[in-house]
Amino acid sequence: MKICVLPGDGIGPEIIAEAVRVLKALDLKLEMEEALLGGCAVDATGSPYPDATQKLALAADAVLLGAVGGPQWDNNPREQRPERGLLGIRKQLGLFANLRPAILYPELANASTLKPEVVAGLDILIVRELTGDIYFGQPRGIELRTIDGQQQRFGFNTMHYSESEIRRILRVAFEAAKKRNRKVCSVDKMNVLECTQLWRDVAIETAQDYPDVELSHMLVDNAAMQLVKNPKQFDVMVTGNMFGDILSDEASMLTGSIGMLPSASLDANNKGLYEPSHGSAPDIAGKGVANPLATILSAAMMLRYTFGNEDAALRIEGAVKKVLAQGFRTGDIYESGTKKVGTREMGDAVLAAL
Ligand code: IPM
Ligand code: MG
Repeated sequence: MKICVLPGDGIGPEIIAEAVRVLKALDLKLEMEEALLGGCAVDATGSPYPDATQKLALAADAVLLGAVGGPQWDNNPREQRPERGLLGIRKQLGLFANLRPAILYPELANASTLKPEVVAGLDILIVRELTGDIYFGQPRGIELRTIDGQQQRFGFNTMHYSESEIRRILRVAFEAAKKRNRKVCSVDKMNVLECTQLWRDVAIETAQDYPDVELSHMLVDNAAMQLVKNPKQFDVMVTGNMFGDILSDEASMLTGSIGMLPSASLDANNKGLYEPSHGSAPDIAGKGVANPLATILSAAMMLRYTFGNEDAALRIEGAVKKVLAQGFRTGDIYESGTKKVGTREMGDAVLAAL
């Protein structure tokens, strides 16, 4: 079981260190090797996804990632931005299925900006297509064109999906729903975009293979609204790359604790890249205060989806629940009456609870 570990930028190295400690404590014969991705890779090699990292990632069974990005690389040319490394590894490894759970832990109900009764017990899974759509569509660019008799800059991107790309992500959503509450809500913009009319048609066709799962459809603007109005109506939401980018951030904020949310990006054979849903938080990097729980929970997802080890996954998830019940909180989820701890102490608490 080979794991490529990519600490990345910002708080990445700190939170990854805790997840690695937890994995090592499980005694599972895991081989872990570190490499560079993101801004740190640009600084060291000029590329956000260097050859050595590609080699390691391709050879590994799973990738565990911290986070990438930071203000110091914001003005780099597009090819040398940290995000480019992330998009590159997703595409190269064929990680088309992005699973982003939004779960509200009962102990953290006050962390949400929404009323407790709206979010109590929230458990949504967003299934986002990750290697297609306008993110990767050609043609794209910014060029000079003559428009209205005037030379001016013209920016363009292309949204596209083939029916096989749509079908395979819909299948992931239906399969996930079978293990949950058997409801899939497919999100599109079919009233305006042909590409997503096809999405809806293929969703309806695919649903015929899953008679025990209820399929509904929602336009993306309404979905954004329903997520804050009545989020508990959703079980599994499935959507394209760009809509999924936006809706998954919105869903994560319903819980008020993005520091708690893991994610998985899977290929067709359950090889996966696992990373916290939050970013690199440059403002608190190096201070030892970041919340490592989303990364630790991402390691649990890795054990479940790539290595098929449900017991070990449950052991980690159980330990996380226990430390919350014991009152340990990093700054992002702290409230008075709880014990404020740093990244390392939170890792210690999880290790003790294992
Ligand atoms: C995400 C991020 C990325 C995305 C960026 C960093 C390229 O926002 O994982 O949601 O847009 O996919
Ligand atoms: Mg995003």
